Amino acid sequence: MIGTMTRRQGLTAIAAAPFATLATVAPHGEGLDAVARRSGLRFGSALSARTNGASADNPAYAELLRAECGLLVVENEMKWQHLRPAPGAFDFAAFDRIMAWAGEHRMTVRGHNLLWQRRKWMPAWLEKYDFGARPARSASEILIDHITTVTRRYGERIASYDVVNEAVTPETGALEETALSRALGGTEATLDLAFRTAHAEAPHAELVYNDYMSWEPGNAAHRAGVLRLLEGFRRRGVPVHALGVQSHLVTAGPDTGSSARAYERDWRHFLDAVTGMGYRLLITELDVRDNGLPVDPVARDRGVADYARRYLDVMFDYPQLRDVVAWGMCDRFSWIGPFEPRPDKAARRPCPYDADYRAKPLRTAIAQALAAAPRRPA
Ligand code: XIL
Repeated sequence: MIGTMTRRQGLTAIAAAPFATLATVAPHGEGLDAVARRSGLRFGSALSARTNGASADNPAYAELLRAECGLLVVENEMKWQHLRPAPGAFDFAAFDRIMAWAGEHRMTVRGHNLLWQRRKWMPAWLEKYDFGARPARSASEILIDHITTVTRRYGERIASYDVVNEAVTPETGALEETALSRALGGTEATLDLAFRTAHAEAPHAELVYNDYMSWEPGNAAHRAGVLRLLEGFRRRGVPVHALGVQSHLVTAGPDTGSSARAYERDWRHFLDAVTGMGYRLLITELDVRDNGLPVDPVARDRGVADYARRYLDVMFDYPQLRDVVAWGMCDRFSWIGPFEPRPDKAARRPCPYDADYRAKPLRTAIAQALAAAPRRPA
């Protein structure tokens, strides 16, 4: 990133940094992870390797992570598209740098992810790969090699993995296919192999199925598909320990309280079914799309915070949940803006801190929900 910056942009970025001294980024004394720990929870965030982005190379962002987080997830650099430039090749440089920084600051890293069951997010070479005369064997070897290489490299330094990401089609609840899963003999066989390999190589690790079925209306088919998948894992004895609930929340309008109340019943049924099968829960990618809220940042931030608070209160009712990860701490770097701009083009405000590293009401709402959470047994 820095290579593509003009000198002027570089200077502006540096000039902005002193703005975010610890006094301004953590005016609340206690960081979110410290608050979480008192309730037996942990709090963390995604970070990236982009220089001057949401990364440890950006002093302001690094300070935010150190002040607020005990847990880190690397936003992109463990994904196949980043680790696997070509068949047989691995490029660990970016991920290793983040691991080194996390180690220096005694922060725990979760792995995201070992298999993203979506064509769009797997490397182009793999989608076009010639699996040869024995495709099932060749595809299995590729998957096993990938998971084995990654998990062995980091050993016990990574204690929790999103082994499989997003295998269910939201509109239908069916399982997604990729070139790899087709060659291997089907999606179920592929996912089972991913979890079994991860378990064999990292028996210490928590193995998570991660997806974005959410509590808002329109997600019923997605939730049903995820339940079927989780039931299947249990039936087949596949080692899956937890459901990662991404929690990319979406507000529907100014009356965030009554929407939250309306969603709560079906959502609890879903969580009851998941935990009833013995799965733990994690919030893996928390952020809020401020849809339907007025452009005025004060009103918008209030709506986002209230909505998230109601959601977190429901989630924290489940003692099976111990980890909360935000998908970025600072609006300036959030993926939501480019991914789904607001129709009125106003900059998105999905994170606990604004674009100038100032704490927002969402930060307070998270702190209050963490503090109010029923205490988990040690
Ligand atoms: C997103 C990243 O934030 C973007 O930078 C990238 O371009 C695409 O992926 N669900 C997931 C995450 O599991 O990996 C996604 O992260 C967001 C949705």
